[in-house]
Amino acid sequence: KTVPVLTIDGPSGSGKGTISRLVATRIGWHYLDSGALYRAVGLAAAWEQIDLSDEDAVAACAARADIRFDAESEGGEPRVIVNGKDATHQLRMETAGAAASAIAALPAVRAALVDLQRGFRRPPGLVADGRDMGTVIFPDAGTKVFLTASAAERAERRYKQLKDKGVSVTLDGLLGEILARDARDANRAVAPLRPADDAVSIDTTGQGIAAVVEQVLALLPASL
Ligand code: C5P
Repeated sequence: KTVPVLTIDGPSGSGKGTISRLVATRIGWHYLDSGALYRAVGLAAAWEQIDLSDEDAVAACAARADIRFDAESEGGEPRVIVNGKDATHQLRMETAGAAASAIAALPAVRAALVDLQRGFRRPPGLVADGRDMGTVIFPDAGTKVFLTASAAERAERRYKQLKDKGVSVTLDGLLGEILARDARDANRAVAPLRPADDAVSIDTTGQGIAAVVEQVLALLPASL
């Protein structure tokens, strides 16, 4: 019997991370934050002063990267240890998001991360959050969700998230960065951001977290 997977894809700030974590906790499944892997590779490459457009060099860096999600959490999010260094804070910054988005457009880098991501599929099940979870990494997932929200609301959410973490940003600057990142993610040649044909789209604009969690849970088979 195959291990069940719930995929939750969508643009930055759509609420994927928060919703995925809460749903995974509710049903006792494992959780994969695939965006954190791309962010970690972007960061590791920057640390090694690798040119982020050098596809082979970044892919090699991805293949040898040691990325660990620590059980010990900070504010509900697990600590992320990259090549032995605690990168939890740095990874949440928009600079890491932008670096992730740049290296995520390189086919060899994406290929280097496929097996790592599929390895998170362990009993009793997996909630996988990202851009191509339902289309490329787990095309056979039993339940696929595509989360959206207006760009203004997504920028607002990120702004609050970053401010709570003590990162200084402006709402306008953030909106511009988010729109640029979304355009790059949606228009790239490999694994562009798009809903899987069999995904259920949920627009979270103006909706509270709890309401969205319930909508996602309602999509899961009753036999769970
Ligand atoms: O979800 P998060 O904002 O952490 O993702 C950071 C970047 O990593 C995205 O903008 C996207 O370019 C890339 N990414 C991806 N495929 C995934 C997850 C993230 O290309 N499955």
